[in-house]
Amino acid sequence: MLSVCMLLLLLLLPISILSLPDCNFPAVFNFGDSNSDTGGLSAVFGQFPPPNGDTFFHSPAGRHSDGRLLIDFIAEGLGLPYLSPFLDSIGTNFSHGANYATSGSTIRRQNTTIFQSGYSPISLDVQYAEFSDFLKRSQIIREKGDVFKSLLPEKFKFSSALYTFDIGQNDLTAGYKLNMTTEQVKLYVPDVISQFTTVIKNVFALGGRAFWIHNTGPVGCLPYIMDTRPITAAQVDPHGCAGPFNGVSQYFNKKLKEAVIQLRKELHLAAITYVDIYSVKYSLIAQAKKLGFGDPFLVCCGHGGKYNFNNARRCGTTEMVKGKEILIANSCKDPSSRISWDGIHFTEAANRWMYSQIADGAFSDPPVPLKMACHIHKS
Ligand SMILES: *[C@@H]1O[C@H](CO)[C@@H](O)[C@H](O)[C@H]1NC(C)=O
Ligand SMILES: *[C@@H]1O[C@H](CO)[C@@H](O)[C@H](O)[C@H]1NC(C)=O
Ligand SMILES: *[C@@H]1O[C@H](CO)[C@@H](O)[C@H](O)[C@H]1NC(C)=O
Repeated sequence: MLSVCMLLLLLLLPISILSLPDCNFPAVFNFGDSNSDTGGLSAVFGQFPPPNGDTFFHSPAGRHSDGRLLIDFIAEGLGLPYLSPFLDSIGTNFSHGANYATSGSTIRRQNTTIFQSGYSPISLDVQYAEFSDFLKRSQIIREKGDVFKSLLPEKFKFSSALYTFDIGQNDLTAGYKLNMTTEQVKLYVPDVISQFTTVIKNVFALGGRAFWIHNTGPVGCLPYIMDTRPITAAQVDPHGCAGPFNGVSQYFNKKLKEAVIQLRKELHLAAITYVDIYSVKYSLIAQAKKLGFGDPFLVCCGHGGKYNFNNARRCGTTEMVKGKEILIANSCKDPSSRISWDGIHFTEAANRWMYSQIADGAFSDPPVPLKMACHIHKS
């Protein structure tokens, strides 16, 4: 009798996780690129231009979108304030976490400067160095009391926080930018994954226990890739995306998932959730019309061309016309009716829809809801 019960319990493990209480994460520490940058790059290299931020913040807010990003909806969903960018020295409040993501960040260090290639110098190892320093110094500064106590997290928050990761897309596009073939890019993916793994282990060593890891999206569905890379008609998939480029993203994700499975074996005390953002983004594109978004590749904020995207005149570009500065890459009338904000990033409406898909764990392995991502799942 007992053994039958035990067996049932084992079979129903995800359900047994569901019977556990919410994690009540007191903080979120995020690592990533523009998909989750809430102002890191802007703080250092200058604010992204209008009309970024128009829909929700009503002015540029360090985000490549008309409004909130997926990480903003995650913070809201956990009942926490939006994450302050670690690099921002004005108006920040880190009591509930920090955001190390910057637009253009890669996992690996790049051999070019941001002025040459556009990739951020704040690669994932640098983000980790910032986090490690923050963990130590925030505690020293808190001891000064007063306002510092309310701006910096208590020690316990580091071990009970949710650690979120959304990075890797730029490691793939960096190769394309150097004119590498998809095969050449695939060859270096294992090195990228291995450097990602190192950072997860390092955060664990500093006390991090709950990890929420997004895989990478279908870059072959980005107007930016479809417009700037040579793609033959035979390479276009049934939903209009560039097949070979998505193939590399899928290869990256396969390797990332293998790495996560290995990490679970090594870090017994860690709860690691792998979230299939690729499938969420792809299904958004595939169902665009049904969901009321129309053409999934028509860019809201851009200038001309097949997709209303011109790499030399990206969202917010201005030009002097008869002595007057004119915004030539402006927002469409209704950003909530589009998926692609600027050819690379998503509109707030698309981000909100993505959040609705991932919050309950439907795209996660193990399939636990966001609020329960602290519970360890033995597979
Ligand atoms: C940077 O250059 C070094 C030395 O040639 C090389 O090993 C490394 O892979 C390069 N990194 C990237 C991201 O291309
Ligand atoms: C920092 O944010 C927390 C949470 O929103 C709030 O309770 C606290 O008062 C803030 N501190 C300051 C100095 O604004
Ligand atoms: C890649 O190819 C394009 C088009 O041929 C060329 O303009 C560009 O300079 C090349 N980039 C690199 C890094 O070789």
